[in-house]
Amino acid sequence: MENTPIKDFYTVTDEDNIAWLHFDKQGSTTNVLSASVLEELYQALLELEKQKPRGLVILSDKKNGFIAGADVNEFTQLKNQNEALDAIRRGQGVFDRLAALPFSTVALIRGFCLGGGLELALACDYRIALNENDTRLGLPEVRLGIHPGFGGSARITPLIGATQAMDLMLSGRTVTAFSAQRMGLIDYALPERQLEAAARKIILEKVSKHKPTRAQRMSNHKAIRPVLAKVFQTQVAKKANKAHYPAPYSLIDIWKKHGDDERAMLQAEAESVARLLSGNTAQNLIRVFQLQEKMKGLAKLKNFRPTHVHVVGAGLMGGDIAAWCALKGLNVTLQDQSPERIAPALKRAHTLFKRRLKRDRPVQEVMDRLLPDHAGLGIKKADVVIEAIFENADAKRSLYAALEPEMKTDALLATNTSSIPLQELSSILKDPGRLVGLHFFNPVAKMQLVEIVQDTITSEQASQQAIAFAKRIGRLPLPVKSSPGFLVNRVLMPYLLEAIELVSEGVPAILIDEAATDFGMPMGPIELADTVGLDICLHVGNILGEHLGLEVPAKLGMMVDTKKLGRKSGEGFYQYKKGKPVKPKAPRGYQLNDDVSQRMIMRMLNEVVACYREQVVSDPDLIDGGLIFGTGFSPFLGGPMHYIETEGVDVMLRRLQDFERRYGPRFAADTGWKSILDFDQTASVGNG
Ligand code: NAI
Repeated sequence: MENTPIKDFYTVTDEDNIAWLHFDKQGSTTNVLSASVLEELYQALLELEKQKPRGLVILSDKKNGFIAGADVNEFTQLKNQNEALDAIRRGQGVFDRLAALPFSTVALIRGFCLGGGLELALACDYRIALNENDTRLGLPEVRLGIHPGFGGSARITPLIGATQAMDLMLSGRTVTAFSAQRMGLIDYALPERQLEAAARKIILEKVSKHKPTRAQRMSNHKAIRPVLAKVFQTQVAKKANKAHYPAPYSLIDIWKKHGDDERAMLQAEAESVARLLSGNTAQNLIRVFQLQEKMKGLAKLKNFRPTHVHVVGAGLMGGDIAAWCALKGLNVTLQDQSPERIAPALKRAHTLFKRRLKRDRPVQEVMDRLLPDHAGLGIKKADVVIEAIFENADAKRSLYAALEPEMKTDALLATNTSSIPLQELSSILKDPGRLVGLHFFNPVAKMQLVEIVQDTITSEQASQQAIAFAKRIGRLPLPVKSSPGFLVNRVLMPYLLEAIELVSEGVPAILIDEAATDFGMPMGPIELADTVGLDICLHVGNILGEHLGLEVPAKLGMMVDTKKLGRKSGEGFYQYKKGKPVKPKAPRGYQLNDDVSQRMIMRMLNEVVACYREQVVSDPDLIDGGLIFGTGFSPFLGGPMHYIETEGVDVMLRRLQDFERRYGPRFAADTGWKSILDFDQTASVGNG
């Protein structure tokens, strides 16, 4: 680690002999801890040791935050467990050196301070942070299939006690400066004007360091750890299957064994992270992270900065889209046929804002940005107009005819249609190329994906504006061809229909759902169908069935005929109490056929391949990203295309042939499978 030229850090020593170490990674808008950055930091620390300042303040020059974490891309380049272990030990060595400096050290945090960034801050004597909403602290490593490895787990548990520390690491959630101060993770949450003065004062006056409370200390006691570890394991098991997501379990284990011995814990965390990093789950979850970055990176338009959105249709979707846009800082006008139809949307918006923002003032500020506008006064000023009225082509067309002359010439016109081909709608427009689909998913506040629907006449400008807009409101854009069901609904439908077919064959619904969740889906298909509404499933199934030659099981129509519509009617495949399914136990001794989950998954994968062949989405990485963020497809498998590649196309084809023979022609392999036999030549992110 000797003699690395230091370019990403510089030190300014002030008149009190306090050294201010600025981190400003060159050629990057974000500070990340790559191997070379860590070496430079080590070098800088050696120089500071020689310089012997009175104290050290570490701060970032980046506008967006302190440090975003380790450089995730480097994780995919490690050849084996030993190489991973070496890299982690080097990182730990740097932070150990920082922790051992013979003068006071302060991390001064503005904006995000995540993963390795927080581990660095934990190696300092004090942490102070800007008390603004944008300041976010957390250890989200578990989302990448690992846990903190640069000393984070060894340092945070004694600092704030195991209960809160493990909660942060096991959930990967982030906290504000205010919450971080309350739990003792930082010493002070302060306004900008006091931040630097506070860092100086801490050093000059040798303020005493944060001490954990007795309860926090006791939580790491060897008599308590086994009990608490059981509690943590039970909590984690509710969310993550150990076979699919081993990281949280490994973290609990090492803490249980070494939770009161910092040195042993450091060694154990390094070994555990090295092992996890070389496993499939971590590599696939890193791939998911990279896919997400790739989708964000599709937004290229720099000079489109929408500030005002006008939404027409304040129903389920339009109302929630409007609320989301307001929450994300845009001014929103919301139109419907009458003020009475807008009121429920405003009520739902208020509930969302309260849940997200907690305090009254910010809630009021967002409410002030969301204006009911039944007369459509906002159309003239809007940069983006989103139509979310009934799924009726004539109604949509006549609305566009009225909207177009009112709109700014460069404003984007978008529809949330889920099934009408764009061309059928845009033909009414003077400039048909300006219409694009912005297909949101329900519930809008939860579903990260937005399909950007375009056809051959959609202008590049409109597509680019739509992508930029999706990114602006914190959503992941997926460009798709205007074709029945686009990507997500099209791929989901055969999977849902197969599940309903299984019910018709007498397989208990709960076991079908369990088979899917065991595969890694976030919710079983039967519960999903009930949640979406069986009438909607039937409607979409019939539309897609016509185009794709899908057979809709008679059972679905019968249920709709008897008004069993799913959750909204109180009964579907399950009964519902207060909106929650009451799931009957499976009959005792019922033997589930091994094929159940594969029958559903293979139908889904066959449709994925058909979409690839038809270039509904042309890039296999984006198909994976779209289906992970649009359907929750088992993230630990890295996406359906990646899963096909991992299992092997030959294996998949044989499985389909076998199923076709046993269950019928709906399993006939799509012709697209042939073209993905040469998958390896396809450019792909990460390890894919
Ligand atoms: P909805 O029935 O809840 O709301 C439609 C709203 O549009 C109603 O409040 C109605 O009064 C209003 N409206 C109708 N004509 C209007 C006009 N000319 N001017 C102003 N307002 C008018 O419908 P929902 O479920 O919100 O669907 C809206 C659109 O979003 C449809 O195109 C649907 O296909 C699509 N979509 C629906 C999803 C869902 O899960 N419900 C998911 C994704 C897309």
